[in-house]
Formats: sequence, structure tokens, C-alpha cells
Amino acid sequence: MTEVRDPDWIEARLLAVREQVDAVEEALLAAAASVVTVTGVDDEPNFQPGRVWGQNLVSGLFAADAVPGDLEERLAAALSTRLPLEWVPVEGLDWAHAWKAHFHAFPAGQRLWVRPSWVEATKPEGRVELVLDPGMAFGTGQHGTTRLCLEWLDACIDPAQAPEVLDYGCGSGILAIAAAKLGASRVLAVDNEAQALEATRANAAANGVEDNIEVAFVPGGLAGRGPFPRVVANILSQTLIELADDINAQLAPGGELALSGILKGHADRVREAFPAIHWTGQVDDGEWVRLDGTREGG
Ligand SMILES: C[S@@+](CC[C@H](N)C(=O)[O-])C[C@H]1O[C@@H](n2cnc3c(N)ncnc32)[C@H](O)[C@@H]1O
Repeated sequence: MTEVRDPDWIEARLLAVREQVDAVEEALLAAAASVVTVTGVDDEPNFQPGRVWGQNLVSGLFAADAVPGDLEERLAAALSTRLPLEWVPVEGLDWAHAWKAHFHAFPAGQRLWVRPSWVEATKPEGRVELVLDPGMAFGTGQHGTTRLCLEWLDACIDPAQAPEVLDYGCGSGILAIAAAKLGASRVLAVDNEAQALEATRANAAANGVEDNIEVAFVPGGLAGRGPFPRVVANILSQTLIELADDINAQLAPGGELALSGILKGHADRVREAFPAIHWTGQVDDGEWVRLDGTREGG
């Protein structure tokens, strides 16, 4: 893919106990951190879904020109307590290698195998491989919310039906590419970040599915599109609530919806924002959840 020039980066670091980790992570992502990593205080990386240590070092990486000045207040509001926050400048190139070391290849659902482009690993027989380079966009699949969505796509895309899929908030394009590789006839991948669209185009080409995936800015890119029989959106709770009408309008009657990026405590508020959806299930990964539903009618 085209390399995006690394800006200088600043890392926000704080120590959090197990119960605080997901809320801290959500607050960092909502403040537009490019990457959030959680490690045990002994610097052991967090590879297992849902695994969190008693004491954790949580770090959020911000481009030096996009540091949220109110991060301490946001964290205090999310946690109802103040935690000491440390800001650590990181040189771009060193950082690029440091964070890449935390990623690994993994299976998702029954049919997928996800491999970051810089990792060498043999694909297990019978699985389809996705090779991802997120660039500056979210989404190598390491995050529990992405894995939950990959599992949903694996379960609800039947190549015999070849449904069309909308990936709302595509990031690196991981879900759109998974949908195409699992047998979707056509995928629309949308985001409001230029870097995400660039990463999705590049990753789609690297995976040989660029002809099946259309990439577009939102909200403009949705005009005259849809409705889709499958819609997946892995965005944070508050954004999902704000986008509820747009997302709902893109789901065909009888169509299936998966929403993720939601902390357990916010699930009811998200469900309430989608009154036309009949909710069929909730799948958890630690404190993060995926909500499954179908649109009435059809
Ligand atoms: C948590 S990332 C998910 C990326 C990828 N789909 C995945 O599952 O790993 C959320 C994505 O939603 C995008 N996003 C946030 N607010 C949005 C909005 N209002 N409209 C469209 N996309 C949005 C972000 O730019 C980001 O790429």
C-alpha cells in the first residue's frame, strides 16, 4: 500500500485496574487515539480475547498535531475518578516497529484467518486469509469488537446467497474484505476519515477483492445506495446512537444488523436508539459487546 508519512506521535499512558480498562479504552478511542494497547504491568502483550490483567498499562497513541487537550477530563468523566496520565513523545519510525510487534495472526469464526502484513504465519487449511496493513486506520482485528464482527460475518454470509453488505465505519477495511472473501456479491465500505478509505482501498487490492468493494465517504457516499440485507457497524456507542437513522435507513426489511464497539453498560441505550430493529442476541468479549438484530418487515 502507499505509505502514509509518519507524523510525530505522543502516547498517553495510564495504569488501570481490570475493571477500568474497557472504559479507558473507549474514552481513548472516542478521543481519536490511532491505536490503543493494553499490556500487563510486566509488559506482557494482550493477545487473548477478553484477557485483562489485574494491573494494566493502557496507552493511546495520538498524532502530535491531534492531541486532545481535555483527555484527562474525558477519562475522569468515564471512570468517575481521576487517574494520573503521562504523556510520552514517540518518534514515528521507532513507534511503527514497536506497536507492530504487538500484533499476530489469528483465526476468526469457522472460515477466516487474519494476518497482519508484516507477520509470517502459515494459514490453517480450509480457511480464507485476510492480509491487513492498517496504515493509520483502526483495524488489524486484534480488538475484541472487530473479532466479534468477523465472527458475525462468518456466521451470516452464505456464499450461495451472496448478500450485499454495508460496512459502516470501515477503518482498515477488515470487515469489508472479510465479507467479500466470505462470499458477499458486493460490499460498500464507508468512513468519515480519509485515511480509513485509503487503507481500505489498499487492503482490498492487496487481498484481490478490489472489484467487489466500493469505498465511499459518509454521509455523502450513501446517497441513493442500499438498502442492504447485511449491515455491520463497529463504532463507539455514542456515534452509533447519533448515526441510528442513517444506519437503519440502509438496512433492508428483514435484513440483519450487527453493531459493535459498545461497552456492556451502554448496550441498552444503543438498542433504544434503533426502535425498528428486533434484537436477536448479544455476544460479549470482556466488557465489549456485539448486538445482533433484524429489521422488522421483509
Ligand atoms: C472502531 S473503528 C472500526 C474499524 C473496523 N471496521 C473494525 O471493525 O476494525 C471505527 C471506525 O468508524 C469510523 N467512524 C467514526 N465515526 C464515524 C462516522 N460518524 N461516520 C462514519 N465512520 C465513522 C472511524 O473513522 C473508524 O474507522
